[in-house]
Amino acid sequence: MFLDRIKPLDAILATAEKKSLHRSLGAVQLTLFGIGCIIGTGIFVLTSAGAQKAGPGLMLAFIIAGAVCIVAALCYAEIAAMVPVAGSAYTYTYATMGELLAWTVGWALVLEYAIAASAVSVGWSGYFAGTILNEFFGVGLPAWLSAGPLVLGGSEGGLINLPALVIALLVTWLLMVGTTESARVNAVLVAIKITALTAFIGLTLTSAYFDPDKFNPFLPAGIFGGFGSGVGAVGAAATIFFAYVGFDAVSTAAEETKNPQRNVPIGLVGSLLICTVFYILVAAGAIGTIGGQPIMGPNGVPFPAGSEELARQCLMPEHRDALVCSNEALAHVLRQIGFSGIGNVLGIAAFLALPSVILILLFGQTRIFFVMARDGLFPEKLAEVHPKWKTPYIVTGLTGLLVAVAAAFLPVGQLADIANAGTLYAFFMVAIAVMLLRKQAPDRERPFTVPALWLIGPLTIAGCLFLFLNLPTEAMLVLPIWTIIGFVIYFAYSRGNSHLGRGVVVVVDDIEGEEKMVPIQTPDN
Ligand code: ALA
Repeated sequence: MFLDRIKPLDAILATAEKKSLHRSLGAVQLTLFGIGCIIGTGIFVLTSAGAQKAGPGLMLAFIIAGAVCIVAALCYAEIAAMVPVAGSAYTYTYATMGELLAWTVGWALVLEYAIAASAVSVGWSGYFAGTILNEFFGVGLPAWLSAGPLVLGGSEGGLINLPALVIALLVTWLLMVGTTESARVNAVLVAIKITALTAFIGLTLTSAYFDPDKFNPFLPAGIFGGFGSGVGAVGAAATIFFAYVGFDAVSTAAEETKNPQRNVPIGLVGSLLICTVFYILVAAGAIGTIGGQPIMGPNGVPFPAGSEELARQCLMPEHRDALVCSNEALAHVLRQIGFSGIGNVLGIAAFLALPSVILILLFGQTRIFFVMARDGLFPEKLAEVHPKWKTPYIVTGLTGLLVAVAAAFLPVGQLADIANAGTLYAFFMVAIAVMLLRKQAPDRERPFTVPALWLIGPLTIAGCLFLFLNLPTEAMLVLPIWTIIGFVIYFAYSRGNSHLGRGVVVVVDDIEGEEKMVPIQTPDN
């Protein structure tokens, strides 16, 4: 039962072949698409949480998390170019390890996409309240309306994060009525983000406030704070990994890519490398100017990011302006070093660009639910396509509600950690799937092959496991608890209703395309 119900690769590939999507994307467009998915709340907001965990060692954290993502990206590139169908990691697992494990991946991807969308909504809320309401309209949003009450293991003192709730619902509505982001809008938003980060780097690194002494001590919480502690450079890497989440969306564009052997890896690795360089320089600029030492607890360990104790410390006059206390880290740094106007412009850039990251993540989530429902693992009613909007509106609406509720009540750092837990699991399974496919189907055509897979694959697996174990314990625990809930649903509903289990392979072209049921070919029929 554990490894049964493997979806035939032929059926999956037949679907992909039938798709006549025009191959139009080149390396540059793919890289831009990747950057559009990647840069968001991670750098604009979580820089504070990262500094609270690692101090200046945040720069090292960006390198560690970036390295894990690059090896994972290579694995994604091989399998995405070979099996270019919707549902990515879920479908790859279905074809290699069977339905049960595929279900766990699809279920974990809810954490990656939906909870990540919640985290970005909360990140957006910080810039909306700080820059738009406060700086431009002089309106201070009361604390009870600008933060949720829940911190796993503590309390943040708010009631509901209203702006985060509203933006999540607004983006859901846009998706329901059929909005997708055009390549042109994406290019404009990427330009806005890159310009904002470049201006930040230029202004901070050349500022009179820049002082190399601010990097001392470089690792105030050490490199390794202990598994589950969530502190130290690797603890920060596990959190800041969020800043890279989203690159796997590039793999979903593989089927629209010209010369995928060359362009898919360039797009994936190129966008990750560019973001890594930006992130390290942004961290250097922020810490070199206003400092980024963590606020230490009495035992010499940093207070947990997002905790009640830290929130209390941040109210004290000596910490009020600290990097680790800001909800809009980058705009805050610029204001502190005398560039209030530009800080506000950067705040507007985040305000404009972050909703597109929410849109991409939510879209990814609805696509995965949609494919799972078409496979019979969820009630098919969920996958119903709206006659006018041509979107899977039920699944989109329900997903949006989940995203909005999580955004309304949980803090950004914890949402990001939970999203990371799900993402790391998915990357882990993709690495296994690529290696299995090399064994199971060695002669299949592979438009792109990972160089030295037997090194890169295990490195990906080890890297994901290592980052996972360095998440805070509460975030780590969410994954097994979530998986157990998933198993209950799987055995109560999905296993009995699975199309594959009933001997039918469903191949899904895309949302508007036809659904085809193909009986499984067995020696008897
Ligand atoms: N990487 C994306 C972000 O940082 C999810 O917002």
